[in-house]
Amino acid sequence: MITSLVTGGAGFIGSHVVKHCLQMGHQVVVLDDLSGGFRDYVPEGATFIKGSVTDETLVTALFEQYKFDYVYHLAAYAAEGLSHFIRRFNYNNNLVGSINLINESVKHKVKCFVFTSSIAVYGPGQLPMTEEMVPQPEDPYGVAKYAVELDLKAAHEMFGLNYVIFRPHNVYGENQNIGDKYRNVIGIFMNQIMQGLPMTIFGDGTQTRAFSYIDDVAIPISQSVNIEEAYNQVFNIGADKPYTVNELAQVVARQFGVEPNIKYLQARKEVMHAYSDHSKAHQVFKVAHTVKLNEGIGRMAAWAKKVGARKSKEFENIEIYQNLPEGWNPNKVHKVLIG
Ligand SMILES: NC(=O)c1ccc[n+]([C@@H]2O[C@H](COP(=O)([O-])OP(=O)(O)OC[C@H]3O[C@@H](n4cnc5c(N)ncnc54)[C@H](O)[C@@H]3O)[C@@H](O)[C@H]2O)c1
Repeated sequence: MITSLVTGGAGFIGSHVVKHCLQMGHQVVVLDDLSGGFRDYVPEGATFIKGSVTDETLVTALFEQYKFDYVYHLAAYAAEGLSHFIRRFNYNNNLVGSINLINESVKHKVKCFVFTSSIAVYGPGQLPMTEEMVPQPEDPYGVAKYAVELDLKAAHEMFGLNYVIFRPHNVYGENQNIGDKYRNVIGIFMNQIMQGLPMTIFGDGTQTRAFSYIDDVAIPISQSVNIEEAYNQVFNIGADKPYTVNELAQVVARQFGVEPNIKYLQARKEVMHAYSDHSKAHQVFKVAHTVKLNEGIGRMAAWAKKVGARKSKEFENIEIYQNLPEGWNPNKVHKVLIG
């Protein structure tokens, strides 16, 4: 019996990875602190442990008990834009937490460590982003992801730990936390439409992203442990075609049968255009085609209409208030609500 650990398995991408691992016949243990995920998203058949990857004692005990063959590490606080303002939390959660898992994976001779990095590692480089480019991350979230990538490479060279690194981008689909106001523009739009609110866009909406449907990302991630050619490699993964955020708003509104009602907010510091080249992943994972935006949004909209709108959780422990974008300051939100 193959035993796999999926960290972040109660989250969006993680819950899909758990589903595919179960389908591949793995025994699956999920470690998730539910800071961003939901217990009911963990597919039936997986063992759920509520806890943090930053809890060294717990992580050590789990590796001791289950003797994992594979580790899929998806747990992270993934609000990239917010990471500037929660730097200490970001590095502790996303970097030090990852190192706890890498240490144990080395000690227990895990066969492969699968890590979801991000195209955030590239920074505002040339387009399209290709795996050979030297990463230049420009925010703490991207810096932490790249540091974990480098650490995996070092652990491979020193101890022979095999890894597969994925750099997904702008993933959307069923089980996404549509109540998170800090990230996931598609979920934010859907949540706003269902509450009768205007869709909010930072800047003029001409920034572009290639939005990737969940199956195009979660299936290769799950299957990567079976593909030896993928070992000790880095892969961009996701959809090829970029859309402006204005175009996206039109597609989402159409799927809800409403006229797009957009409120433009002050631009925040972010990369204007981001899309990556996926030829390497297409070749190794034999991807024939990816799901079209209209179709993927249709599937997600059908799910979102069933689960309904959710209220956004405030991130309480902001470390730096300077330059914090409009709407992200918990103190100001509070003042507006009471005053
Ligand atoms: N969604 C995207 O577009 C995207 C793009 C690039 C990379 N990624 C990466 O993919 C992974 C999954 O992202 P997602 O979109 O599913 O986000 P998500 O927030 O839905 O899932 C992350 C999960 O990790 C859990 N978690 C967070 N900190 C934890 C901790 N310290 N210990 C245990 N569990 C913890 C959360 O509760 C949540 O269930 C993340 O590593 C993210 O950085 C996502």
